[in-house]
Amino acid sequence: PSRTNVAIIGMGTVGAGVARLLIDHGDRTARHAGKTIWLSKAVVRDLNKPRGIDLPAGILTDSIDEVIDDPEIDVIVQLIGGLSPAREVMLRAMEAGKDIVTANKALLAEHGGELFTRAQQLGRSIAFEAAVAGGVPIVSNISQCLSANQVLSMEGILNGTSNFIVSQMEEKHAGYEPTVKLAQELGYAEADPAMDVDGTDAAQKLAILSHLAFGATVDWRDIPRDGIDRLDPVDLQYAAQLGYRIKLLASARLIDGELELSVAPTLVRKGTPMAEVRDAYNAIRVVGDAVGPVFYHGLGAGQMPTASAVVADLIDTAVGRTQLTFQTLEYFAEGRPARTVQRD
Ligand code: NAP
Ligand code: HSE
Repeated sequence: PSRTNVAIIGMGTVGAGVARLLIDHGDRTARHAGKTIWLSKAVVRDLNKPRGIDLPAGILTDSIDEVIDDPEIDVIVQLIGGLSPAREVMLRAMEAGKDIVTANKALLAEHGGELFTRAQQLGRSIAFEAAVAGGVPIVSNISQCLSANQVLSMEGILNGTSNFIVSQMEEKHAGYEPTVKLAQELGYAEADPAMDVDGTDAAQKLAILSHLAFGATVDWRDIPRDGIDRLDPVDLQYAAQLGYRIKLLASARLIDGELELSVAPTLVRKGTPMAEVRDAYNAIRVVGDAVGPVFYHGLGAGQMPTASAVVADLIDTAVGRTQLTFQTLEYFAEGRPARTVQRD
């Protein structure tokens, strides 16, 4: 067909950005997909809430069933956070013959095995570039571009909110609480910002990347983790005096065939690329046995960077390119247990 019909479920920060790209830049998506990617429906809870975007008449609905039951809809963009009803929505949508694009890392880290198994059984795809590091294309790079490598290690800043807060505290001597509020207002934070600042979100993303890079089944709860919520501004000052910055680093490395994983505030020497990652930017340093070290850097949170990744996934889905990642996604479905080593 010359048109792929899309329904967005969840029109918050990211959903509104996706709608904006589809509506304002249909020519761009059509050029890359070779067909029109058409926004047919957008599901919200509250029909009267302002969305900050002019939606064509008749698009908004408060009925998830309406879009799942609509045989004309080809792809569901699932952008409601949390586990339920997000999980049920994805399962029902795939059973109704629809492919999925999502940014919901909490759901994939928790129920990825079940969802990808079902996707394989049903011959459907789940694309999730936006679930890790927002606009930085790390999922496709690890699962496709670096697939000739054995990844030896990954280390990075995977939570934009935490990096934003620490940057503001360090550079502007901003207070912790008002900066958390600012991160919420800017659309960086999770619905519950505790997930950002206590290291949960970074651990969930690290678990997803570890599936892709090492073929390992990792329960994100098993990853030793600390967040930035226990940092004292004095820690940042002392670190600066000694020539360091403190960054919330997520790290995974293969050591003698075992996977060592952690999320922790870490001293990083000033002037190194990782130390200079500011605001809501993310960065990941991946070391592959053939390619050596590769460094990725870009905005890891926020409306349009995240929408950029979602719409790229939509284009891939429309042209059937997500199938390329299916071999890798089998790790989600079948898994291989990782032995995680606790690090002090
Ligand atoms: P958000 O601003 O809180 O938006 C969530 C939207 O989901 C809201 O519009 C809400 O509707 C809708 N919703 C919730 N439950 C619903 C239900 N049962 N039925 C219909 N609609 C429902 O969240 P967000 O920041 O856009 O994030 C969406 C997802 O993307 C999350 O999984 C998040 O982790 C992920 N993500 C976010 C970012 C980011 O920078 N924000 C980056 C990467 C990934 P109402 O508006 O009517 O309440
Ligand atoms: N709350 C997340 C963050 C959004 O701050 O990184 C992007 O996944």
